[in-house]
Amino acid sequence: MAEENILSVQDIRKSFRHVQALRGVSLAARQVKITAIVGDNGSGKSTLIKIISGNLRPDAGQICIEGRAYSSLTIRQAMDCGLRTVYQDLSLDNFKNSIENIFLGAEITKGPFLDRQAMEEQARQLLAEIRVDIPDIHEPVRNLSGGQRQGVAIARALRRPGKLLLLDEPTAAMGIQESHSTIQMLERLREKGMTLLIVSHNLHQVFDMADYIYVLRAGQCMGSVATKDSSPEALQAMILQAENRKEAGL
Ligand SMILES: Nc1ncnc2c1ncn2[C@@H]1O[C@H](COP(=O)(O)OP(=O)(O)O)[C@@H](O)[C@H]1O
Ligand SMILES: [Mg+2]
Repeated sequence: MAEENILSVQDIRKSFRHVQALRGVSLAARQVKITAIVGDNGSGKSTLIKIISGNLRPDAGQICIEGRAYSSLTIRQAMDCGLRTVYQDLSLDNFKNSIENIFLGAEITKGPFLDRQAMEEQARQLLAEIRVDIPDIHEPVRNLSGGQRQGVAIARALRRPGKLLLLDEPTAAMGIQESHSTIQMLERLREKGMTLLIVSHNLHQVFDMADYIYVLRAGQCMGSVATKDSSPEALQAMILQAENRKEAGL
């Protein structure tokens, strides 16, 4: 089966005043695969996610989704194309419970009232689908673990079914065990037919999970690999070589 790109970006550029956050980034996310974008802090990963999800306009470049090209997207357009996003800060309301967070801004109503029962049922179903165990979904999310909070944010993103899930540093604040179960959750989503684009600053962590990896450094893509044909060491050597070439002005 030919591997199609559900999403690709070409030569994306974005500056914030004098900071060139993205200096011509091109990459693609293949259908029903996990693509990872790795890079140090400040390399432009979140800026790229925000451009793809319609939160920021690029200064130049284009975004292609299922063969249609856009010079920029609105959040609505990105949603309508089937893109779902979990941001780095998760955007949860700490004082609200899991159900309220999953339906934040999209509450189900029955006549003039909130349909709490319908929301609770759907929230339980969404959490069960991604196998996130939250013993008490009436508990404010501030009392949940990092993995559970990430689960609530993913359940919210998938409340409306989507095709491509963008996740910005999904395991950043987690211990080893929780990172592991979050990675398993993401792999199960891929098995169910979801395409994933995941940002991480940990090359070794994504190597086991991702099918493709792109490395960002100072707003530029330093290289990419298919993980099945590579190793973290080979990728690191490739990045070093690219840096040396740049320094030598080649
Ligand atoms: N809204 C903003 N205003 C000014 N500078 C920004 C803004 N967002 C990001 N930057 C700068 O752009 C660069 C890339 O940031 P970011 O995309 O958040 O990197 P990463 O997610 O890889 O850590 C950094 O130098 C950052 O300080
Ligand atoms: Mg970031």
